[in-house]
Parts: sequence; structure tokens; C-alpha cells
Amino acid sequence: MGITIRGMGYYVPDKVLTNFDLEKMVDTSDDWITTRTGIRERRIAGSESLTDMAYRASLEALESAQIDPQEIDAIIFATLTPDLGFPASACLLQARLGANRAYAFDISAACSGFLYGLEIASSMLSSGRAKRVLLVGAEKLSQIVDWTDRSTCVLFGDGAGAVVLSSEGEGELLASVMRSDGNYWEILYAERCGYIKMKGKELFKLAVRSMADVCEEVLQSAGVSTQDIDLIVPHQANIRIMQALVEKLNVPMERVYSNIHKYGNTSAASIPIALCEAYKEGRLKRGDLVLLTAMGGGLTWGASLIRF
Ligand code: UT7
Repeated sequence: MGITIRGMGYYVPDKVLTNFDLEKMVDTSDDWITTRTGIRERRIAGSESLTDMAYRASLEALESAQIDPQEIDAIIFATLTPDLGFPASACLLQARLGANRAYAFDISAACSGFLYGLEIASSMLSSGRAKRVLLVGAEKLSQIVDWTDRSTCVLFGDGAGAVVLSSEGEGELLASVMRSDGNYWEILYAERCGYIKMKGKELFKLAVRSMADVCEEVLQSAGVSTQDIDLIVPHQANIRIMQALVEKLNVPMERVYSNIHKYGNTSAASIPIALCEAYKEGRLKRGDLVLLTAMGGGLTWGASLIRF
């Protein structure tokens, strides 16, 4: 399926919250957080709204794609922390960008939001209903974190990532598998205006198993072996989850891109931020075979294999 990532951008707030800062807020330690999660610091929004962060990421993506906002046919915005109850975050972003030819909507799939968005965008592009789609994953998780709960507050951060997708170009979505199982909703959720609640241990096991399953399914349906993958960009929830995942897939950790030490878990923003950083660092090149996978609240999970 022809779908090319023409441009990418990301934005993270300037304010850094380190593990040492957290030691002063809750009963935790840098050692515990680093060894159990791989996180050393995370970014926390100050005066930035979610729309501000998404706008900065989108501008960079549009500039790198050399596409004018008016040329965008649709804006898909994945988030679980919108600025308003309604309208959609995508509409607020559309207004800011002046992308007035686009239709704009949000999707709620927690940490899998970016991959669900990619799936929707690819249907729109392959059916000819859209030629250019702006897909954004952005979160201001700091506003739904209970800063007195050490079991969750050390994990999350704020940020935004955006990609411009086009039906023209050499890129391809070779295969994808999306799943959800609402029976597990209580493992990770927040009440309306409430804080994130999580059963970490159960989620950890489910995350490894379910992401490994969909990755294997995707590789099989594309007829690709794990040896052929140039880069795996998993959702950044825990470095130990990523290690367990690649062990199951029999891929060396060197082929995994991770920036969790800098940003923690940014939910829907984590894959687009990682993709963009990997590209800037030269870890991701045109023509590479890239496996994306995520798992989060819902539960939702999925994997997509792309030719970049
Ligand atoms: O984005 C969606 C996907 N998210 C995930 O997949 C997250 C999955 N879960 C995890 O990443 C891990 O389960 C956590 C990082 C959340 C927790 O790691 P764990 O190795 O599963 O630790 P645990 O929850 O079993 O806790 C072990 C101990 C407990 O103490 P006791 O009962 O053994 O005395 C906790 O109270 O660590 C304690 N603990 C902490 N200690 C210091 C929990 N949080 C902290 C903390 N600092 N921040």
C-alpha cells in the first residue's frame, strides 16, 4: 500500500523533571526508576497547551515535507489528554495551522493511537479519499498524573510528534495488525477528570505477549523475516518491555530505537517522537524496513511494518 512519510516533526517542553527531582516528591530513587524502567528524566509542559505542542511538531513536519497546510486533506490527532472536552484537538490544531481544506478528527486509542491513526490514514490514502494526511500523536500526561503516587508518576511525560503522510512516494505500509480487548480496561485507565490508574505488573506481561504476537503476525503476512528488519520502533513504556519483546522476536537490541531515558512514556506521542529522532540521528534511512508496535489502555495494541 503506497504510503510515504514525507515529513516528520516533534516537540517536547523545555522543562526537564529528573529522577532526582522525583526523589524529593515521592518515596522513590533514581536507581529504582532507572533499573525498573530505563527512564532518567521526562519533559513536563509549563504554559504549553496540548495544541501548542502539537502545533510546533506539525509545523516542523510540514516544513520538512515542504507541504503547505492548505494542501492537507485530513488531520488525525491521537491523544488521551485533549485541551477541551470538545471540539476535537484536531480542529484546534487545524485552526492554528490554517489547514482549512482539511477535515479534522481525534482518535482515542491511548498508547496505540499513533498506529491506529496510521491504519486509518492508510485506508484514506489507498482509497484515494485523501492525498495528504497530517497524523499527530500528542500528550500532556502531566495533567492526569497523580504526583503523589510513586507507582505511576515516575513513568510519564509530555510531548508531541507529527508526520505528513502522502500517497505519492516510495514508502509503503507492507502489513499491519490492530487489536483491542475492552475486557482489560481496568488495567490502565483514568476516570473523567481523574488520574491514571495502572496495574503495572499485569500490564507488563500482557504488553510483551501481545506486542510479540502482532509483530510475528505482521512479519508473517508480509513474508518478512526478523533478520530483514532495519529498525524496530516500539512504544516507549519501559526498556525492560522492549528488551523482553526483542528477545521473543530474536532481534538484537541494537536494532531497537529507544529514547525512553529522556522522555519516559508519552503515550500516543512516543512512536512519532522516536521516529523523528531516529531519522535526525541517521538511524532511519529512506528504504529501511521498520517495524512499529504499541500497546496501551483499552487495552489496545498493534504492529505496522513500513518501508520508510
Ligand atoms: O503505556 C502503556 C503501557 N505501559 C506499560 O506497559 C507499563 C507496564 N508496567 C511496568 O512498566 C512495570 O510494571 C512498572 C515499571 C510500572 C513497575 O515495575 P515492577 O518491576 O512491575 O514493580 P512492581 O510494581 O512489582 O513493584 C515492585 C516494588 C513494590 O514494592 P514491594 O511491594 O515489593 O515492597 C512497589 O511498591 O517496587 C515498589 N515501587 C517503587 N519503589 C520505588 C513501585 N513504584 C516504585 C517507585 N520507586 N517509583
